[in-house]
Amino acid sequence: MKPKSGFFFIVVVLFLWSLNGKSLADDRAILSKNIISTPELVARGKTVYSTNCATCHGPEGKGDGPAAAAFTPKPRNFTAEPFKEGGAPSQIFYTVTNGMGSMPSFSSLPLEDRIAVVHYIHSLTPNKEKDTPETLAKIGLGPDYKPLTDFQAEEFPELPVSFIMERMAVDGNIHSLNPKNLIQEQKKQKAGPPAPAVPPPVVTKPNLDRGRELYVYCVTCHGENGEGSSLISAPQIAGQDADYIIAQINKFKTGSRGAHPDDESGLKMRPMAQILRSENDIIHVAHYVHQLQPAKPVPTLEGGNAEKGKAAFAMCASCHGADGKGMKAMSAPSLRYLQDWYILAQIQKFKAGLRGSDPRDTTGIQMKGMSMTVSDEMVKDIAAYLESLDSKEGKR
Ligand code: HEC
Ligand code: HEC
Ligand code: HEC
Repeated sequence: MKPKSGFFFIVVVLFLWSLNGKSLADDRAILSKNIISTPELVARGKTVYSTNCATCHGPEGKGDGPAAAAFTPKPRNFTAEPFKEGGAPSQIFYTVTNGMGSMPSFSSLPLEDRIAVVHYIHSLTPNKEKDTPETLAKIGLGPDYKPLTDFQAEEFPELPVSFIMERMAVDGNIHSLNPKNLIQEQKKQKAGPPAPAVPPPVVTKPNLDRGRELYVYCVTCHGENGEGSSLISAPQIAGQDADYIIAQINKFKTGSRGAHPDDESGLKMRPMAQILRSENDIIHVAHYVHQLQPAKPVPTLEGGNAEKGKAAFAMCASCHGADGKGMKAMSAPSLRYLQDWYILAQIQKFKAGLRGSDPRDTTGIQMKGMSMTVSDEMVKDIAAYLESLDSKEGKR
């Protein structure tokens, strides 16, 4: 949604704010109290920034994060480039809340965090643009802010939160929430028998061309052929079971994986899942990744003993299969082409509660239980054993 449709936009944003369970008046009070920068807000914003924005905008806001290469236009370099939608705090707030082009919306970040990150970004900009009554009015603040007139209120009645949420569930994309259409739709729903929101039909046949198109966003970290990159801690995903990939992307999306503040590598992946906006796009890209040919990973860990690993693997085989290629019935992925450093890191994460600890992550929870039974030593042995298996058998 472009700022030209500012009025409609405000209606929607105000509702989205209210999804936090707080009243609009509360939110406006928080916003107006914090619209002036303080060193505390900037410091808090820096933390919010490193977990949510650095993947694309770079560690210092120079637009050079690991995922940046995939985007056109590129993620903004806050320290040098002008802002398309204006660089005053309220304008940055507007962009962060709603997203812009391929930048995802961060309306789900707590309001306080969003304001804090705005002040951090503003602190990086060379010419520190200032708010005017007009820019403030656009986000519902300041002397020029006018609440809806009776006439407007009648033409644009408040949409119930449940209705907006229903619509968001349909395609998960607030950019597509044109309030004008929503209001029309709601009127219709009111008039006739209530029509349940119907999600677009889930594709039965994955479209690999569309998958390849979407994979452009993955190349910088997972490589042209899905081989992964140790520099970024991104694993080989080529050849992995498509249903497993779909499940993992959905976990990153909902935050049941990759959302813990100490899960550095998971946090790199999380925003990438966010940019796959429709269920069908996730299916297309997962099947594209599945048909990529996996390469035999290069061993990096020392001291693993494949013989001992073979014995230890017996307890993994019941779920991951005797050949380590995974078992669909157990929702257990193939381990055969995962890099040894990734296997070790994941087991450590399961143990530390950074993965498999969210109650929604039922399959992760199973693996967390298993992880408690193995030492780092055993994991190295198992990785050495998996590497010793012939990789010429083709697919995982
Ligand atoms: C998935 C990658 C990605 C992530 C994560 C991301 N951005 Fe962006 N951001 C972009 C891209 C791409 C653009 C440029 C969009 C355009 O110009 O159309 C952009 C542009 C912006 C702009 C510029 C707006 C303007 O008017 O020019 C701001 C401000 C911004 N991002 C803030 C943030 C903040 C704050 C976060 C974290 C809360 C964040 N971004 C996270 C990709 C990302
Ligand atoms: C900014 C770098 C980056 C980009 C871009 C990226 N990923 Fe990832 N991805 C990672 C990292 C790092 C991990 C490992 C997360 C962890 O340690 O839990 C990961 C993990 C995954 C996993 C889980 C693998 C497993 O074995 O459980 C899947 C699936 C995945 N990514 C798919 C994708 C897809 C599809 C795209 C493109 C839409 C993509 N990634 C883009 C960094 C990235
Ligand atoms: C009870 C069944 C079960 C057993 C036994 C089991 N796993 Fe798992 N494992 C799973 C499931 C299910 C997942 C997928 C978790 C998810 O969905 O995030 C998994 C995931 C993993 C992952 C992460 C893979 C990735 O791509 O991110 C690794 C590594 C792993 N297991 C290693 C092992 C090892 C090593 C053993 C033996 C010591 C073992 N597992 C035993 C069920 C099991």
